[in-house]
Amino acid sequence: MKKELATQVNAYLANIGVSYIKLHNLHWNVVGSQFKAAHEYLETLYDALADVLDAIAELLKMNGEAPLASMKGYLSVATIPELESVELDVKSAMQTVLKDMESLRTQASFIREQADKENQFDVVAHMEDDVANYNKTIWFIQSMLK
Ligand SMILES: [Fe+2]
Repeated sequence: MKKELATQVNAYLANIGVSYIKLHNLHWNVVGSQFKAAHEYLETLYDALADVLDAIAELLKMNGEAPLASMKGYLSVATIPELESVELDVKSAMQTVLKDMESLRTQASFIREQADKENQFDVVAHMEDDVANYNKTIWFIQSMLK
């Protein structure tokens, strides 16, 4: 794997790591009449991201690269912003998640393109799976926000 691609994959890993904690924040702090559904849905999202975090880190290891593996490391390169721990309504929580999922989809699509140019097919396959999952999540959230 070329260094530049490894750096991009690590930046993606960092955003996954930040999102994993941020989704817990929203899971804990969301309030409103649809609390239960939102609270439970946010849990399914962070559970899914835990698997992505592991898979992407192991993809780097399989290619002889060192995955970022600390919050300090993630925060040093992540582009997805963290949130303070404050209560917020379901609509605001879902709008926040929508924006972050769109960012992750854009980042995964970009990495997929770069990996394809380098015939790095393991990365291409992972990113295609991730983009498909973001597409579904984005559809779910957009439907909730209608
Ligand atoms: Fe919980």
